[in-house]
Amino acid sequence: MHQFPEAAKQLQNGGNQYIEMFLQETRRYYPFFPFAVARVQKDFEYEGFKLKKGTLTLLDLYGTNRHPKDWSQPETFLPERFINWKQTPFNFIPQVGSNYDFRHRCAGEFVTMSMMKATIHYLIKYISYDVPEQNFDFNFNDIPAVPSDGFTINNIHYL
Ligand code: HEM
Repeated sequence: MHQFPEAAKQLQNGGNQYIEMFLQETRRYYPFFPFAVARVQKDFEYEGFKLKKGTLTLLDLYGTNRHPKDWSQPETFLPERFINWKQTPFNFIPQVGSNYDFRHRCAGEFVTMSMMKATIHYLIKYISYDVPEQNFDFNFNDIPAVPSDGFTINNIHYL
């Protein structure tokens, strides 16, 4: 909301559909979890890559969510891209891919979306605030990758 004020303005009157798209774009654009880690259990080959038992592997969640094959203008924050969007088990993986019934997709994805909706609703309907100067940089090695100074707000007024 702070980095893309034009998009944030539309949250006020865009209704639930816009909020949903804004949150999906937030999960795509920012490195929620930049990567997932696993250690290879037995030697195998996948699409020409030979993986040896014991190798530490990273699944690039952030990179996949910006892959130009699946996302046009991947570096642009564009909630509208989620209108008529077609999800596959592996094209949008902020909380890992596949499905949560039989594989390791995060079982809390719906809970996460609900929590984000409640939070954004509170921020846009119940309070106004200022955002003081601070460091928004984050480190891609961190899980989760959060801004260096957290996110500080002040001059909070209840509406
Ligand atoms: C911002 C919030 C969240 C993020 C970014 C997130 C991310 C992830 C990621 C990346 C994994 C896969 C880990 C791996 O395979 O290496 C995972 C798995 C999981 N998550 Fe979440 N998660 C979030 C919230 C939640 C919540 C709220 C719940 C429960 C209410 C939850 C429950 C689970 C469970 C049970 C798994 C294990 C699934 C499995 O291995 O079968 N997560 N999550």
